[in-house]
Amino acid sequence: MNVELRHGMKPDLTADEAARGRFVSGLRSLILNDLAGDLKAAYDRRAAPAWERAHGKPPQTSSEAHKALRGDPAFNIYSAMRVQAQKMVWASVADSVEREAGRLASAAAAAAGKVKLNPALAVPKNVGAIDVHLMPGSYTRGGETVEAGAVYDRGLAVFSMGLMGANLDDIGLSMSRYISLKYPDFQPRRILDTGATIGHNTLPWKQTYPAADVIAIDAAPGGLVYGAARAAMQGQDVEFVQMCADRLDFPDASFDLVWSSMFLHELSKKQRAAALAEAYRVLRPGGLMLHMELPPNAEMSAFDGFYLDWDSWYNEEPYYKGYRDEKPPELCAAAGFAPADYVQFVVPSIGIYGEQAIADMIATEAAEAVGQATTGRLAEGVMWFGFGAFKK
Ligand SMILES: C[S@@+](CC[C@H](N)C(=O)[O-])C[C@H]1O[C@@H](n2cnc3c(N)ncnc32)[C@H](O)[C@@H]1O
Repeated sequence: MNVELRHGMKPDLTADEAARGRFVSGLRSLILNDLAGDLKAAYDRRAAPAWERAHGKPPQTSSEAHKALRGDPAFNIYSAMRVQAQKMVWASVADSVEREAGRLASAAAAAAGKVKLNPALAVPKNVGAIDVHLMPGSYTRGGETVEAGAVYDRGLAVFSMGLMGANLDDIGLSMSRYISLKYPDFQPRRILDTGATIGHNTLPWKQTYPAADVIAIDAAPGGLVYGAARAAMQGQDVEFVQMCADRLDFPDASFDLVWSSMFLHELSKKQRAAALAEAYRVLRPGGLMLHMELPPNAEMSAFDGFYLDWDSWYNEEPYYKGYRDEKPPELCAAAGFAPADYVQFVVPSIGIYGEQAIADMIATEAAEAVGQATTGRLAEGVMWFGFGAFKK
């Protein structure tokens, strides 16, 4: 798979930088495929049986699976290597971002008309006060410069090993294709992406619904500044606005689709409830709220749940497990949606399985089980979990 970006903001890498990025991607692939296989074997052969001998039954929850594995050599090797590889992801892109700061800033200046920053906004602590997923300086690195966006874009390309598409838009492409095929009469005129970062999973919605006005919001400024230039270079007309998803400055009933991708798990429980209630408020009747997210623990085995929750303990993702312990239908109902209007599905990655796999799934009304190891897990064969609800 291609691990290099293709758009106009992509780095002009030296040979050493390209080799370094490919090495880190390769290392992550080894960890997330091969070492993850060793981890599962260690769980099945040693950790779960030992837990059962001590407790009279195998681990029942993600937390019990975690406790059963702690101290096992396979777990120690997997975890130590994964933490180090994560730090290497961000370190591997720092030089090119610094060297190309001038070029990137010029591109951003040219696209400035498409960004609205709000310097008075108090950036929430979950965004700037911790190094989210061990990303130095987090989303506020470099303030209103392009730095945070460039680090995120280049880092995510290394991190994702090609599994998120050449321009990191596989989630948006897979989900928007699914929605357009499944609900052909649903033609949104205004689309909002919340927690969009650099807009990589916003752009596919503009491609799918070209007549729609598409707005990407985020609490952090740098990703938006960078994202506007990135979108312009891909010929996409999207507006980027600094705003909190849990306190939207939009009027009631002003959007047909409120979307987010890999966003809710980075919010506190209180922020998450508020963001969902805000989505409900700004949707028009007939509108759709849709979130691509990690699948919930309730629908996974103890081991698969623990495998995803690993980030909460070791990857500076403090809200990850709390989010995964919540139940999406209950979140939607608490935000005001009728339980009967709830939807959830698992979409095959369009980049891995191809467009036809999505069409076939809809045509045959086949439903992929949520609780399979490939759901939401960045490794060979990844599938994306989505949930949401239509507003009456
Ligand atoms: C993991 S990134 C989302 C990435 C992107 N949507 C994707 O598809 O990969 C989470 C983003 O949420 C933003 N964020 C966190 N809390 C927020 C809030 N309360 N309001 C708006 N954005 C927020 C962060 O600044 C960050 O850019």
